[in-house]
Amino acid sequence: MIQDVLRDRSAVAHRQLEKIVVSRLKAIKNKEDYADLLKYFYAYFSRLEQVIEPYLNEDILPDKAKRRNSKFLADDIVSLGQDLDELPIPVVPEISNVCQALGALYVMEGSVMGGSVIVQMLAKSGITKGVSFFSGYGPDTGSMWESFVAVLNQNVPASEQYLVVETAMDTFHCFALSFNEI
Ligand code: HEM
Repeated sequence: MIQDVLRDRSAVAHRQLEKIVVSRLKAIKNKEDYADLLKYFYAYFSRLEQVIEPYLNEDILPDKAKRRNSKFLADDIVSLGQDLDELPIPVVPEISNVCQALGALYVMEGSVMGGSVIVQMLAKSGITKGVSFFSGYGPDTGSMWESFVAVLNQNVPASEQYLVVETAMDTFHCFALSFNEI
């Protein structure tokens, strides 16, 4: 199963990114700090969405319109009283086919799973607003993940698995690196 390969191969990259995000979360003192963290996510996810867009139509991803995207981040940032001006354009992996696009999307869709932990951490700092992005799909989180994994299985031939894994790793790394850029 490609998902097992992806999870195993990207476990270290996930842990490294999780560490960065957790330390940023722990440093949050107020809603401005939280909005600043959201800006890293927005800058990266919105750029990544742009580069995968040409390769993911609804034949490949039938429930594309239902999937969480960076618009949620933009709304959360604005709801916290901040704007999206002057954000840098981060470096993202080069995407030139469907398999690479799915590798990048694996990282974005998987991030929903950590979202509930993030919402709980924020609540401990008294932040309960502007959490639509991290709230993910709510009770549908499990089924949305399962249908994404089915999309991976349907669209990635065994011979292309390495490409998906490589891009997923690259997607984790570039995101981790982007935290030094803003
Ligand atoms: C506070 C930060 C984070 C925490 C606590 C966290 C935690 C988790 C947890 C608990 C899972 C579910 C593991 C399982 O059920 O097998 C998960 C999965 C995943 N997370 Fe995170 N995560 C965090 C941040 C992120 C970020 C920022 C991204 C990507 C941008 C990400 C990408 C993924 C991916 C791709 C998976 C799916 C792994 C699989 O194939 O099952 N996570 N995470």
